[in-house]
Amino acid sequence: MLFKRTTANPEFDAPFNTLRRRARLLHVNIKYNGVAQTGSVLLLGAAQRIRLWPGPVAKLGQCRHSRDLDVQGIVDVSDLLVSDLKRSAANRYEPTPALEFRHVLQSLKLPYEQYDFVDYGSGKGAILAAAARYPFRQVTGIEFCANLHANAQRNIAALKTRATDQIVSVLADARDYTPRPGPLIVYLYNPFNYDIMGPVLENCIQAAQHSDRPCYLMYKNPFLRDRLDAHPALEKVREPFGGSWAVYRFSSGRQSQAPQSVRT
Ligand SMILES: C[S@@+](CC[C@H](N)C(=O)[O-])C[C@H]1O[C@@H](n2cnc3c(N)ncnc32)[C@H](O)[C@@H]1O
Repeated sequence: MLFKRTTANPEFDAPFNTLRRRARLLHVNIKYNGVAQTGSVLLLGAAQRIRLWPGPVAKLGQCRHSRDLDVQGIVDVSDLLVSDLKRSAANRYEPTPALEFRHVLQSLKLPYEQYDFVDYGSGKGAILAAAARYPFRQVTGIEFCANLHANAQRNIAALKTRATDQIVSVLADARDYTPRPGPLIVYLYNPFNYDIMGPVLENCIQAAQHSDRPCYLMYKNPFLRDRLDAHPALEKVREPFGGSWAVYRFSSGRQSQAPQSVRT
């Protein structure tokens, strides 16, 4: 099947091209992990499928977050400790695979030290930790679920790569956080529906208007792709991993240097 919907969470499905996604995952795994490690993951995966190998096996492109961090696991929407009203607009917790994130971020070729990075719906902080590998001015996660936020704070404390006061998890509803004005990368792993996305976008557009550099929105599992494609302040510049990601440039402000639109 060429196009399929993600089986990860049918409530928040986003169709993508499976062949292109697999090819890109293979490429990215070889790039970051080398041929030998990628080959052994593939072999173990095949052995598991034909029941020669009983244990769990890492999948291509899956999380390669530091072992010091506690970011794994899925927390279903019903287990998010927030009000029913907030829960009804939210997606579950699930960490982004670090390799995918790094590949998409690096494809933008940005001077990171001039940018702030904001992850709306940051959960346990997997992407805050991944972003902390780059010299962003500030890395901020917004999470509305108190126990996930507490988990993120423990992970931030365990990070040894950068001064932790530049990496923060904020306990708040995404709608209540406006990034500070200036160059900005916004990250979303399919965290909520358009009731929340609409106000979040308006806040980000406001911040991006004060930037003299292009500002970007990285969106994994872009469930709301059609709405964002039609948004007058956003221009789609990439659809990495067979369209299982979308990257938009905020078209407002005094920005320049937009990459050409590509699908990989
Ligand atoms: C799919 S997880 C992504 C976690 C993290 N960004 C990552 O990529 O590893 C989505 C997260 O969004 C959070 N979330 C959903 N609605 C939210 C809201 N209105 N405000 C803040 N966080 C929210 C959920 O609690 C969950 O942790």
